[in-house]
Amino acid sequence: MRWFTRTAARLGAVPLIITGLAVLGPAAPSAVGASQPRIEKDVFGSTPDGAAVDRYTLTNGRGMRVRILTYGGIIQSIEVPDRRGRTANVALGFDNITDYVESSPYFGSITGRYANRIANGRFTLDGVTHQLALNDGVNHLHGGTVGFDKRIWRAAEIRDRDAVGLELTYTSPDGEENYPGALDVTVTYRLTRDNTIHVDYRATTDAPTVVNLTNHTYFNLGGEGSGSIEDHRLTLDASRYTPVNDTLIPTGAIDSVAGTPMDFRRPTAIGERVRDGFEQLVIGRGYDHNYVLDRRDDTSLEQAARVIDPDSGRVLTIRTTEPGIQFYSGNFLDGTLVGTSGRIYRQGDGFALETQHFPDSPNQPQFPSTELRPGDTYRTSTTYQFSTDRG
Ligand code: BGC
Repeated sequence: MRWFTRTAARLGAVPLIITGLAVLGPAAPSAVGASQPRIEKDVFGSTPDGAAVDRYTLTNGRGMRVRILTYGGIIQSIEVPDRRGRTANVALGFDNITDYVESSPYFGSITGRYANRIANGRFTLDGVTHQLALNDGVNHLHGGTVGFDKRIWRAAEIRDRDAVGLELTYTSPDGEENYPGALDVTVTYRLTRDNTIHVDYRATTDAPTVVNLTNHTYFNLGGEGSGSIEDHRLTLDASRYTPVNDTLIPTGAIDSVAGTPMDFRRPTAIGERVRDGFEQLVIGRGYDHNYVLDRRDDTSLEQAARVIDPDSGRVLTIRTTEPGIQFYSGNFLDGTLVGTSGRIYRQGDGFALETQHFPDSPNQPQFPSTELRPGDTYRTSTTYQFSTDRG
């Protein structure tokens, strides 16, 4: 638990919100318009068991609009201007609650209690073995059968001088999905005037447990439903990654990316080497790997990834306090889902970059710890900054 404790202590001392007003360029002309930041609420629908789902629309007055659902804390859409000021929604999703409940591959959601996989759904903590749901073949994935992505979160609006946001809270009872300890979770989304979404995660527990939270947005910087992301140029600030076995569980090795198609230290098109026959890409049907970030320390917000869409000129820069990032090239999208704008999503039509601790950490003592104990506070932060290559 030392990692989180140190993080908590150090992060508490630094402002997590980078307002960046000094670096703001002229307001981008766009359909969303230049105006005051605002937040509005409407009803998105109700789940099949009758729970009401609200949708909050955050507008920053600088061309960006972000929609968030109380179901799963889902980022339903992210509207961003391109290099000519034309706005598109760059987050994959649905226009109705039923599809989110019945068929979402975690589009935009908060994933937990444990994002990513735990081998055989089993881990031992303080001598007690916990058996979790096997919802991904022989493994546990993204918190189980009813994870945080399927819970209704309580929402409170935030109106700061430089941001609008939403504070989402959820209390996961002791034993939910067979995880030990009651977990109080707060996830805060803030949209600032420098076109950045800030996500802060916080959790406390009343008994020893494991936690790994992330947001599972799939991006397509050309606009969701516009086709493949294989031309997007990706940079990952990672010289190592955790190779996986044929069920996508880390083997325990931490390998260098040098000389392999896993190397994104320089901007490289996602599709350039994805068909190379490299064994890890065969196993994952593409990229589906945790990268070990080249961090200066284990507490500050540091750049993890940058993605450029050469067509639209949109650029996404991701910074995080986390030690890892899962790069998933949308391999399991198979043309069966119809997205927000009515177009189907095929393989490679979106990518996810999930900031997180490493997969299967509860069974891999050499990985950074994901244990959380009473009295400690889990705290991590990630930011998604949007810009254009001429902005
Ligand atoms: C995993 C993929 C999985 C996807 C949707 C990603 O985080 O790495 O293997 O298919 O989530 O569940």
